[in-house]
Amino acid sequence: MASVKFEGVHKVYPNGYVGVEDFNLTIGDGEFMIFVGPSGCGKSTTMRMVAGLEDISRGTITIGEKVVNTVPPRDRDIAMVFQDYALYPHMSVRENLSLGLRLRKTPKAEIHERVTQAATVLGLDTYMDRKPRELSGGQRQRVALGRAIVRRPQVFLFDEPLSNLDPKLRTGMRVEIKRLHRSLASTMIYVTHDQLEAMTLGDRIVVINHGKIQQVGRPIDVYNKPQNIFTAGFIGSPPMNFFTLTLHREDGALFLRSENFSLKLSEDHPIAHTLSKPFVGSPRLTAGIRAEHLKIARTQSATPSIHAQVEVVEPAAPEVFLYLKSGDASFVMRDDSLLEPVVSPGQTLGVYSEPENIHLFDGNGERLT
Ligand SMILES: Nc1ncnc2c1ncn2[C@@H]1O[C@H](COP(=O)(O)OP(=O)(O)O)[C@@H](O)[C@H]1O
Ligand SMILES: [Mg+2]
Repeated sequence: MASVKFEGVHKVYPNGYVGVEDFNLTIGDGEFMIFVGPSGCGKSTTMRMVAGLEDISRGTITIGEKVVNTVPPRDRDIAMVFQDYALYPHMSVRENLSLGLRLRKTPKAEIHERVTQAATVLGLDTYMDRKPRELSGGQRQRVALGRAIVRRPQVFLFDEPLSNLDPKLRTGMRVEIKRLHRSLASTMIYVTHDQLEAMTLGDRIVVINHGKIQQVGRPIDVYNKPQNIFTAGFIGSPPMNFFTLTLHREDGALFLRSENFSLKLSEDHPIAHTLSKPFVGSPRLTAGIRAEHLKIARTQSATPSIHAQVEVVEPAAPEVFLYLKSGDASFVMRDDSLLEPVVSPGQTLGVYSEPENIHLFDGNGERLT
């Protein structure tokens, strides 16, 4: 097992395209790290540089104590599982699992021991003599994982290994991979474009966009405190709602306003300190509120801060999603106390959010407080 360290890593493709820019990150020994971002953001490029399948244009990658920039893939002691894993169709599960070790001339007794252990961990014991065509998609995927496990590498690299599975199988495999990480206690880097997979699997996640790291942190911290609008909109489902507002100071109090939105911020709201310097007048900000943090104002004390029209009611037991419109802004709220159809399309509602659940971003999309 080993740590993996990226220092100032860049990837410029021969056509000049910058796939990865100034990537700096240390993945701890035994850590389960997730790279998440939209398709084309540079996840696979980064993984391929770790694996040695792609040159590093600038910077260094260190595995354990060793800078691996010029180390050939086979000497890096890593094992990779891709989305398009290919099993050998004419070989049994046992032969597929042992092939890599046989090619490396590993002693027979050791091959037997490692293959047996991997099969046990993955629950493949009873399928060892079957050919891949006699297996389900999930079982085949487990064989692909098994081929990586028998290598006992310092670092596992997973590049969207579950993308080809149907949703139900994916959930099952997610749990298995997590269990695998616990039992092997190895360093794992796992790439996905699926934010749910990212939120549920890893110790930490690295949010990537356009080849650049946007944020690194524990899933819950990234969720609770996204550092910019990109991360705020990418992590969480449904995506965070955004509203363009202006900030006003009236009678010493702070308000966020738009045509249909009026929110009073507390006197000691951290933004008040920011306000005095860069902001003069009524600066435009983006306020972000997650669907579960919007509430219907049912009582006098809960002052509605948004007046909105219900467009669509989407029951998704045990919750209900309400799609609302207020002026130009469309947004969604999630409510688990709305199981009876008390709200119907066309209705006007007063909606509010607690101030602490409102995320504020400046004109560059950076978090303000
Ligand atoms: N050989 C290449 N030459 C030029 N551009 C490439 C090459 N390979 C990948 N890219 C580009 O680099 C970007 C990142 O690709 P990739 O790392 O595969 O993204 P991801 O895995 O996040 O979907 C994409 O825009 C892709 O088109
Ligand atoms: Mg990819």
